Amino acid sequence: MTVLPLPVIPLLIILLSISFALSPLAKAAQYSVLSYGAMPDGKTDSTKAFAAAWSQACASTQPATISVPKGSFALGQVRFQGPCKNNAILVRIDGTLVAPSDYGVLGRAQNWLIFEHVNGVTISGGTLDGQGAGLWSCKNSGKDCPSGATSLEFSNSNNIAITGLASLNSQMFHIVINACQDVKVQGVRVSAAGDSPNTDGIHVQSSTGVTILNSRIGTGDDCVSIGPGTSNLWIENVACGPGHGISIGSLGKDSQEAGVQNVTVKTTTFTGTENGVRIKTWGRPSNGFARNILFQHAVMTNVKNPIVIDQNYCPGEENCPGQFSGVKISDVTYQDIHGSSATEIAVKFDCSKKYPCAGIKLEDVKLTYKNQQAEAACSNAGGVASGLVQPTSCL
Ligand SMILES: *[C@@H]1O[C@H](CO)[C@@H](O)[C@H](O)[C@H]1NC(C)=O
Repeated sequence: MTVLPLPVIPLLIILLSISFALSPLAKAAQYSVLSYGAMPDGKTDSTKAFAAAWSQACASTQPATISVPKGSFALGQVRFQGPCKNNAILVRIDGTLVAPSDYGVLGRAQNWLIFEHVNGVTISGGTLDGQGAGLWSCKNSGKDCPSGATSLEFSNSNNIAITGLASLNSQMFHIVINACQDVKVQGVRVSAAGDSPNTDGIHVQSSTGVTILNSRIGTGDDCVSIGPGTSNLWIENVACGPGHGISIGSLGKDSQEAGVQNVTVKTTTFTGTENGVRIKTWGRPSNGFARNILFQHAVMTNVKNPIVIDQNYCPGEENCPGQFSGVKISDVTYQDIHGSSATEIAVKFDCSKKYPCAGIKLEDVKLTYKNQQAEAACSNAGGVASGLVQPTSCL
């Protein structure tokens, strides 16, 4: 062992204590929502207490932790607004946040909990209960209903992490990442009824550098939906079902639209879903695109459309019949996708007549229908197949 000369030792101690003081663990300012009047009784409206804890944490010039202890907190809309005076806010949730069950309260508000213009926010743990069942039954009865609130949204924000969060029964989308950079969603669980309308699990749009890992999503719409302007998205180890699959789209709704590129979807399972991996575009003019997409290592169990590109989306048959999608789809690879289709057509590429899909690759794809050969259907799709591909490629 080295023996340090005596005068060096006090100096080391001073240096160590300075670095300890500067490390986030040592000095995070603590804000418990209980100190601002939140009540874990599931009844008392804690909206103001959460907003107050946020404004203190956001105004702190050092890293801050907001803690939400065990128990159930009734919350109306909370806007967690930045920019903040620090860039390390941890929201540690041990309890459950509960939205109003009356959809009259938030149904037209678009958002329940929204973070805007923040940098360096982590949400860890906790359960969000959107209590959406009332709105779903309104929508399912065909009545005129409000569109509903997204449970959790990050908008115009950077360096965000969401880990170990459960989101249940949102009125509308469960989690939205909009206009953000560098977002890590990890160990999240989304759960809503298979027939709940518009309850997408995680929706990403206009964002770059989003990663979604190790998550389980069962809902009534897309497990993950990927909107215009998404790039460098990585999805890995996600289980989907019930739900409508992992979807790029809908794209090309607008004539001027940002494209989607560099998306990786790997190691996923789809169980009893409407779709597996899907790209969906409106059948009308647009300058949008989807390129450099990789779907790798997927297991399908009883999935209606395991592999699908649909460029003729035209809900209500309004403003698109007879037109062709302007969205250019290219360089899409399907690698090691196997399992069972719930319909005879397991692979469907229904591409734009004006801009055919180009550079589609099928590699080691094996999908069966009732333990027999399934079928593939192509229109306006170009590409290559390699390895074992069943059903036989129609490219
Ligand atoms: C594609 O996205 C990944 C992250 O998902 C990133 O690491 C990689 O650098 C991106 N590639 C390009 C060419 O931008």
